[in-house]
Amino acid sequence: MADEQIRFDDGAAYEDFMGRWSLVAGNAFLDWLSPAPGLRWVDVGCGNGAFTELLVRRCQAADVQGIDPSEEQLAFARERLAGAPASFAVGDAMALPWADGRFDAAVMALVIFFVPEPARGIAEMVRVIRPHGTFFVRDLLRPENDEQVRHFVNTYAAGANAHQQAMFDASLRAALTLEEVRALVVPLGFAEDTVLQTSDRHWTWMATRSSL
Ligand SMILES: C[S@@+](CC[C@H](N)C(=O)[O-])C[C@H]1O[C@@H](n2cnc3c(N)ncnc32)[C@H](O)[C@@H]1O
Repeated sequence: MADEQIRFDDGAAYEDFMGRWSLVAGNAFLDWLSPAPGLRWVDVGCGNGAFTELLVRRCQAADVQGIDPSEEQLAFARERLAGAPASFAVGDAMALPWADGRFDAAVMALVIFFVPEPARGIAEMVRVIRPHGTFFVRDLLRPENDEQVRHFVNTYAAGANAHQQAMFDASLRAALTLEEVRALVVPLGFAEDTVLQTSDRHWTWMATRSSL
């Protein structure tokens, strides 16, 4: 599903380009969400740990386990969170290395369109959350046409270099629509309205195991 040109496998380069956006978006998301402190989180596709750091510092997570296929991204994450209650492992969203019900909450931010079988990735995330635990998946929303893509690139990546703008353009085009995300979660028993458009260019799926 993802364009093979879109790669985020260098933690420092990711920080330079996406870090500040991830921080702004992550903070706004947590303002809205206000999760309880002391939870055990899994951060699927944690990348260089930008959002993981917010979970530790802002949400006083008891434990965060991050997983990502990119060792380079994880090296950056380990360094930024040295000494914090956070661990990082190489792995894939489609085959999480944890027992059923291991976590209180799960997050997957800006990852789903990289996952070759997104339905498997979502099902895995559901599997490792305890009853009444919570899931948050957040990502870009695919624009309806070229004009909208250009508008978002010009609006939100105006100061970025040409390569970064091309990555953002490709990411927007590879993103899912609301209908496509709903088609992933409804077969697992979640209601359609657990998937919402939450900004002009993002959707969020927020659900708990009790909504099953
Ligand atoms: C745009 S970055 C998002 C990183 C982080 N979640 C954030 O919000 O800053 C996408 C991440 O997805 C990871 N990724 C790619 N394929 C994956 C897969 N099959 N399972 C889990 N993560 C994957 C990439 O290595 C990359 O770190």
